[in-house]
Amino acid sequence: MLPAVIIVLMIISFTSGENPAIQVILTNKGLQYGKHVGAGWIQDRLDLVTFPDISGKILGGIYYTFSGVTITKCDFPEPSLEFYPNITGFKSSISGLSVAVTGKWMTDFGLIHDGGTFDMAVFNMDVTSVLELGKDAGGHLSVASSHCEAQIGNVDMQFHGGASWIFQPFVEHFKGRIKDNIEATICPYVEESIVNLEYHLQAMRVSFDVGENFTFDLPLTGKPIFNASSMNLGLKGEFYNIQTHTDPPFEAKPFSVSERPDYMLSLGLSEFTLNSASYVLYSAGLLQALITDSMIPPSFHVHLNTSWMGHFIPQLPKMFPGLLMELLNYAREVPMFSFQSGVLKLDFKGAVKAFAIQPNGTQTPLFKLNADFKLSGKVWISGGRLEGSVTLDNFTLTLASSEVGTFETYALEHLMQAGMMLAVGKVNMELGKGFVLPRSTHGELVNTVLGMEEGFIAISSDVVLTNGGFD
Ligand SMILES: *[C@@H]1O[C@H](CO)[C@@H](O)[C@H](O)[C@H]1NC(C)=O
Ligand SMILES: *[C@@H]1O[C@H](CO)[C@@H](O)[C@H](O)[C@H]1NC(C)=O
Ligand SMILES: *[C@@H]1O[C@H](CO)[C@@H](O)[C@H](O)[C@H]1NC(C)=O
Ligand SMILES: *[C@@H]1O[C@H](CO)[C@@H](O)[C@H](O)[C@H]1NC(C)=O
Ligand SMILES: *[C@@H]1O[C@H](CO)[C@@H](O)[C@H](O)[C@H]1NC(C)=O
Ligand SMILES: *[C@@H]1O[C@H](CO)[C@@H](O)[C@H](O)[C@H]1NC(C)=O
Repeated sequence: MLPAVIIVLMIISFTSGENPAIQVILTNKGLQYGKHVGAGWIQDRLDLVTFPDISGKILGGIYYTFSGVTITKCDFPEPSLEFYPNITGFKSSISGLSVAVTGKWMTDFGLIHDGGTFDMAVFNMDVTSVLELGKDAGGHLSVASSHCEAQIGNVDMQFHGGASWIFQPFVEHFKGRIKDNIEATICPYVEESIVNLEYHLQAMRVSFDVGENFTFDLPLTGKPIFNASSMNLGLKGEFYNIQTHTDPPFEAKPFSVSERPDYMLSLGLSEFTLNSASYVLYSAGLLQALITDSMIPPSFHVHLNTSWMGHFIPQLPKMFPGLLMELLNYAREVPMFSFQSGVLKLDFKGAVKAFAIQPNGTQTPLFKLNADFKLSGKVWISGGRLEGSVTLDNFTLTLASSEVGTFETYALEHLMQAGMMLAVGKVNMELGKGFVLPRSTHGELVNTVLGMEEGFIAISSDVVLTNGGFD
């Protein structure tokens, strides 16, 4: 059974050799910030740590119990956390942790009960833990404890009240027992926390529904890549149609986001992600629109009927007098985006099919035009908002086929180009207002910069985590 499982795992790890379309890079600045926030969080919760009661027997028949142990003081030095490339993970250590606690002691010797308090100090605790990161078969990040070590420098104990003297000869015994007890609990506790973290990672979603018919898939494409100064996660970043789940006829090209050590995170978003969205919309037949006369604002002085279109196609009103028309606009091919240094380009090959609407409702095909245009856009971040602008670079209209004979498309091209310019102007007004950068209850992005590179958009940012995110 086991060899079969191993072979399956090997096949899975070999077949997922695709290029990531999204890369996330965590820099040392980000790691140190995360550690700082995490350490503060741990420190705030040390008060909540509960210690188990310790009980036993001394002098043959005296039963004792140490209970109600609470922390009175804690010296919590800043832990260290670093990238540990040779096991693709992190190494964290804390050294010189000291804790003072207080508690109650009780003894039972037949019918004689006694009790008092004790103070205890645990000095110079050192804990080192190495975590190994990986990827599971479902594309989740996985984490496992690869090494853990805990040592306690010294323990000091004092007993007060009642017949405290009875413990004096046993202090060394208690110290040794408590030291062993704490040392033996730390690593299992650390490992349990890692198992818990792994459980959360496994439960994280790697696919997100977009509307009712599409998903956005974000599994890891490979194991995380570590070096001494960063961790790089490659994510698939592909849109799918839930029903067909077919890949587009093009692939994600490899790209490399350069590390920006002065920002906590960098993100590379390949043009592939946008093109996979374009592909699913195109394949689902959503890149089309029917324009009817009633949709045209009266201020345009444009009428979709055969007599008005006679300005451009003189024979039309003679062949089909006094009929309303409809235009079916659609993409002839998957519209492709390309990211180039500083600009985003869109190449759209579209078509317009014109129909006359007969009085009985029948659509009579009239002609088909190919309408191709190129747009270029810029995006940037300003005042925490994502803004942009678009320009129409080229628009060409050519007659593809006609049921009404040939006609000159030049004037019509001018008209449609003017319409496109108006639409582009409207889009620019919206893009100029900008969009607020995404934020969540866990934190927000600050100092964000964005740059368009060959094949991808690079975003670098700092993060401010809010405490709410950890509760
Ligand atoms: C990891 O690298 C360090 C320094 O290069 C080395 O000392 C250590 O032995 C390595 N550990 C493993 C598990 O390979
Ligand atoms: C989802 O797909 C189904 C079948 O193709 C279609 O009937 C439905 O309208 C689609 N839903 C949306 C919101 O597009
Ligand atoms: C670590 O990897 C990043 C790419 O993810 C690279 O930019 C950086 O130079 C590397 N750093 C070192 C110290 O190798
Ligand atoms: C067609 O458009 C003309 C304007 O060019 C308008 O006067 C006329 O009423 C329209 N005809 C129909 C059937 O809508
Ligand atoms: C609708 O009218 C057109 C033109 O008069 C005619 O060719 C066509 O057969 C009619 N269709 C139906 C379903 O009556
Ligand atoms: C627009 O595209 C056409 C066809 O691709 C080309 O012949 C023409 O030169 C282009 N015009 C501009 C201004 O780029």
